[in-house]
Amino acid sequence: MILIKLGGSIITDKTQYRTFRRDTVARLASEIAKSGKKTVIVHGAGSFGHIVAKENDIMNGYKAPEQIPAAARVMADTRELSGMVVEELLKAGIPAVSVPPGSCFVLDEGKLVIDNREVIDRLLDLGIIPVMFGDVCTDRTRRFSIVSGDQIMERLCTMLDPEEVVFVSDIDGLYDHNPKTEKKARMYGRVTKETLKTLDSASDVDDVTGGIRGKIESMLRMTDSKRKCILVNGDVPGRLLSLLKGEIVTCTTAEGGLE
Ligand code: IPE
Repeated sequence: MILIKLGGSIITDKTQYRTFRRDTVARLASEIAKSGKKTVIVHGAGSFGHIVAKENDIMNGYKAPEQIPAAARVMADTRELSGMVVEELLKAGIPAVSVPPGSCFVLDEGKLVIDNREVIDRLLDLGIIPVMFGDVCTDRTRRFSIVSGDQIMERLCTMLDPEEVVFVSDIDGLYDHNPKTEKKARMYGRVTKETLKTLDSASDVDDVTGGIRGKIESMLRMTDSKRKCILVNGDVPGRLLSLLKGEIVTCTTAEGGLE
């Protein structure tokens, strides 16, 4: 089984509130279906989550009663997005169902503490693909908080032991510097824990580098001696399908574990 995250930047226009990129999602759904691979799918919230969550500081938990309708709004919007993603998967012939993370998971201080895996296991046993997503969840300390699609990926990776983990984004791979602002930016074809050491010695350790470190670490956490974690550009038609078929494509592959 391959665990796939469709990032919020690929399934929505992140700058425009509630803008679904239906054609892209339909194409990615058909690429997944054509690969014939068994998958479990997670998606980001994109502009159906981040905009209202940020405006109302949902991430840091309950502070004022006005946040409650905003938290409910985000949960309604992410469910609507997930419904549209699932509709495209169904049209492509993939039997999928949206499973809001709050129906199986509880957070504490923003970290997932409870996972009731029975629902997920029983759906998989039926041959129905559970689709989870970044969302607002209840939190024991903060009362509510945000669980990201990436956190869900890590949890599902531990729970389901997939052969491979794939992040579908709108960039070709991970870069050592911001490719939009720095000419010297180079894309990594492969990252391992050794790559982290080279970041340490980088003379210009800045926010971007810190962000890259975090991304490499989180990809590596999902790898082991057998399992790779790959970042691929879903905006290039056919690239996800080629990757799933085992062909060589432009991407960043993390391997070898973090320990
Ligand atoms: C964010 O989830 C969840 C909310 C803001 C409600 P993600 O972090 O997985 O979403 P993307 O992929 O960045 O859009």
